Amino acid sequence: MSSSSPQRATAKQAKTGKPVKTAQAVSDNQLATKSQAWSALFSEPMSDLVKRYTASVFFDKRLWQADIVGSLAHAEMLAAQKIISKKDFSAIKSGMAQIRQQIESGQFDWQLDLEDVHLNIEAALTALVGDAGKRLHTGRSRNDQVATDVRLWLRGEIDLISALLNDLQRSLVDVAQKNMDVILPGFTHLQVAQPVSFGHHLLAYVEMFARDAERMADVRRRVNRLPLGAAALAGTTYPLDRERVAKTLGMVDDKGQPAVCQNSLDAVSDRDFAIEFTASASLVMVHISRLSEELILWMSQNFGFVQIADRFTTGSSIMPQKKNPDVPELARGKTGRVVGHLMALITLMKGQPLAYNKDNQEDKEPLFDTVDTLKDTLRIFTEMVGGQVNPKTGKKEGGIAVKPEAMERAAKRGYATATDLADYLVKKGLPFRDAHEVVAHAVKTAMAKGVDLSELALTDLQAFNPKIGQDVFECLSLQGSLKARNTLGGTAPAQVALQIKRHRARLGSK
Ligand code: ARG
Repeated sequence: MSSSSPQRATAKQAKTGKPVKTAQAVSDNQLATKSQAWSALFSEPMSDLVKRYTASVFFDKRLWQADIVGSLAHAEMLAAQKIISKKDFSAIKSGMAQIRQQIESGQFDWQLDLEDVHLNIEAALTALVGDAGKRLHTGRSRNDQVATDVRLWLRGEIDLISALLNDLQRSLVDVAQKNMDVILPGFTHLQVAQPVSFGHHLLAYVEMFARDAERMADVRRRVNRLPLGAAALAGTTYPLDRERVAKTLGMVDDKGQPAVCQNSLDAVSDRDFAIEFTASASLVMVHISRLSEELILWMSQNFGFVQIADRFTTGSSIMPQKKNPDVPELARGKTGRVVGHLMALITLMKGQPLAYNKDNQEDKEPLFDTVDTLKDTLRIFTEMVGGQVNPKTGKKEGGIAVKPEAMERAAKRGYATATDLADYLVKKGLPFRDAHEVVAHAVKTAMAKGVDLSELALTDLQAFNPKIGQDVFECLSLQGSLKARNTLGGTAPAQVALQIKRHRARLGSK
């Protein structure tokens, strides 16, 4: 801030002997305070506290690329419609190129006095190219400008997130394929229920992330619509060509037709697109959180089903034996943070009268943090689950390590094939409810003997029902149980293989 003081500009001028034509020098002179940025109407300057309270530049500056791209599309249209001259448009273009370069190289002087990214860039442009810069805002307001910028920025982020969601799905499919025949107990109520393939279990998450990607694609359609041209709230008196701007910015519908917000009041005021994005992001995090919870359980000594690579865990400062699953735990924790952002945004909207209100400036930090948290989480999970490519071997290494023996042991301990025995008896002619009762007795006996159903002698089993024959042992084995569930979407390895094929075709290789 102090680096942009009028004194500094004067010092520069003194050194070179001529007026310094930089964004900063002119903005110091012309727009030193926000009250000057507005008009002569204001009789007193803002206090420092109010400036700090109302400014957004230190977080919304990350919209700078969208702001420049949006401004250029607007200026191009103004020139095409002869609202500004071609000369003004080329001056705006060259000014924006310089500003882009200054921002990229970290030399742009962001000023709190100029409140937000929009006023900072516009003041810098005017400083560089004079009146042409002042003409850029013709037929435009910051209200339609900010709504456009946020949409453009979010569209790009959604594309990155969609790619990351596909990466994570590919990682899960890789691990699922390797573990198609590995059997663990499936749970309901966290009680052992029926044996399932570990591959099948992981593919359940692939389904969740696939729906998340669908939701993101759907949200993108509504994000990718143009508010610009709505001006402050009511449209404008200039003969704008909004569809031209939409096309320039790639804001088109599925048929390639320009996608333009059709009501000026709605265009500048609603942030439902940000809310539904954050809702979709919350669901992704909820799915990540469920996976985290399972990894944490599976890693505990009581389960011992999997291990994650050491670089995703931490030790304890006091207990030397500990390896804590910090990354999954943090992801579970960060889910609360993203869901919190959803609450913030939805509450922000509630109660706002039409049209734009400054409340909407509060949409940015929750939205930015949602995007940052989600991208980092997806990246880290892709690597933690599937590992990383070793440049020497070209193979993925360091994904989750699976312990098939521990999984099988747990499945056997919990009488996971009891339903299979009931189904066996039904096939021998017993009504299901009677079969259920017979098996309950068999389980009670096996429990008392401390053995699995498959470890009871045939004669013991026949004491419960004479229809039981030697072939019962096939259905009491974990493998037999799995193989028998060969319906579409079931856990039989043959079905899992079909699903893996479908996912691979859908996702393609990277
Ligand atoms: N920084 C503002 C925002 O993020 C830009 C729009 C301000 N418009 C206004 N009329 N004060 O929403």
